[in-house]
Amino acid sequence: MAMGTFAALVVGMAAAAALGQEAPAIRTQGGVAQLIVGGKPFLILGGELGNSSSGTAAQADEILPKLARLHFNTVLMPVAWNQIEPEEGRFDFSILDHWIDVAREQKVHLVLLWFGSWKNALSEYAPAWVLADAKRFPREIAADGTPTEILSPFGEETARSDSRAFAALMHEVHGRDAQQQTVLMVQVENEIGFLGVGGRDRSAVANRLFAGPVPAALTAYLRTHEAEAPGEAATPINPAGHTWKEVFGEAADEAFMAWEYGVFANQVVKAGKAEDPLPMYMNAQLPAPFERAGDYPSGAPLPRMQSVYRAAAPAIDFYAPDIYWPDFEDWVARYRAAGNPVFVPEARLDLAAGNALYVYGEARGFGFSPFAVDSLPADGTGPDAGIVGVDAVLSQLSDVILEAQQQDRIRALVLHESSERPAQTVALGGFLFRAMLAHTWPARQLAASDGAMMVIERGAGEFWVVGSGLTVSIQRDPDTDDQAAQIVSVDEMTNVNGQWVAERRLNGDQTDQGRALLMDAHAIRVYRVRMVTYARQGD
Ligand code: DGJ
Repeated sequence: MAMGTFAALVVGMAAAAALGQEAPAIRTQGGVAQLIVGGKPFLILGGELGNSSSGTAAQADEILPKLARLHFNTVLMPVAWNQIEPEEGRFDFSILDHWIDVAREQKVHLVLLWFGSWKNALSEYAPAWVLADAKRFPREIAADGTPTEILSPFGEETARSDSRAFAALMHEVHGRDAQQQTVLMVQVENEIGFLGVGGRDRSAVANRLFAGPVPAALTAYLRTHEAEAPGEAATPINPAGHTWKEVFGEAADEAFMAWEYGVFANQVVKAGKAEDPLPMYMNAQLPAPFERAGDYPSGAPLPRMQSVYRAAAPAIDFYAPDIYWPDFEDWVARYRAAGNPVFVPEARLDLAAGNALYVYGEARGFGFSPFAVDSLPADGTGPDAGIVGVDAVLSQLSDVILEAQQQDRIRALVLHESSERPAQTVALGGFLFRAMLAHTWPARQLAASDGAMMVIERGAGEFWVVGSGLTVSIQRDPDTDDQAAQIVSVDEMTNVNGQWVAERRLNGDQTDQGRALLMDAHAIRVYRVRMVTYARQGD
């Protein structure tokens, strides 16, 4: 080897080492779980693609540059089993490879969504050679004895074939991307669960296993992890029982399916992790209030099934909710209380602006990703495009947010006219921030039907507030001391070439004569608020 080549190799290796080549991982520090990429915490400003948006290479050329321009730093994209393994044992990664190349060029990361045996609980993305052989790849049987079109988790060949395809996928990703780390994480299957009356597969093998004892590994786990999902009803009602009904009562069908799907997914994930140790998670479709298991996918990784999944699938890193229901904050809190890092892989695009601030600020989440972001117009405007303005600002504040998350110096809230909650308060740094939806002045009519803010404590008495649509009054928190407090200054901040500068000092009518922060009704802005505290007169 010529000296020059050797020197170049050494420099290259040193540079690679300096890049911090350990795979992306979840790290919990200061009570907050963050995603570590290249040795540093990373905030996923994500967006998931529509289901039919990543089936060709050409779609990457159109979609990824647009999403990069709209400030998404991570795109969640489906990878379909039937696309990568059209014939058994023959793999074709040409489309995925192109997506990775274009993502890298555009400086966006990817999270891959493995649409394997199940997507929305159904099996549409399995290859034709799987769907054509119900003997080798058995289907779930409905309560009336008729076979469904859905692959059964009891199919051993199905688990083997799905795992082999997933391992091939991760082998490809590792070979192509271990250095660059364009791909950050992988979702395994999609919204798993049994759909149908009775809430479980009624095949002969399923019936036999359901009539038998709960596996010893599960009961042993339940005995030692009783309080794993506090406040969640179904896991378990009686860990000392033997049959599924004795242990789980009315949730027996659901717990039984959760165990089987968990065991299946664990096999898939283990095969994938042997090729590439990226974080791997599962998502869930959430039930409507009072909905029965089977009407929603029964055996999904819901908080109440968390212990069953943890016992069945220790290789899965965490579980994440797809939140389309109005009680967004509640679902985030439930997954978090069950011990998961906070990552929301799917959510409503039209409500994404406020919910993003909530996830990063209040739940100290590492990622949020509204669904169907490729449907946004290229100029980033329109009724669903609020997230574009939020991500534009958050991409400039990521490091500040990540540090504030670790130090517990960040809060957030969301208000909607429709939720009929007139005001809400967060406490931070010795102050109470009480927010109401913004009103016009002097007519005092509602100026915004949605509002949200993230509050970051940046120094003693200095807070940065990011958001829109709210009027915020700030007072001393009486639990801190008995001082009084007053706003000293409010500045609208802007980022010029990486430096934050005050663009406008707000006062007079724009602060209700110094009494409140009056946010813009619609545009996301960053405000710097300085407070003073003082002893009350006569104290
Ligand atoms: C949840 C699924 O995970 C997505 O792939 C998509 O089907 C949305 N629902 C709804 O469009």
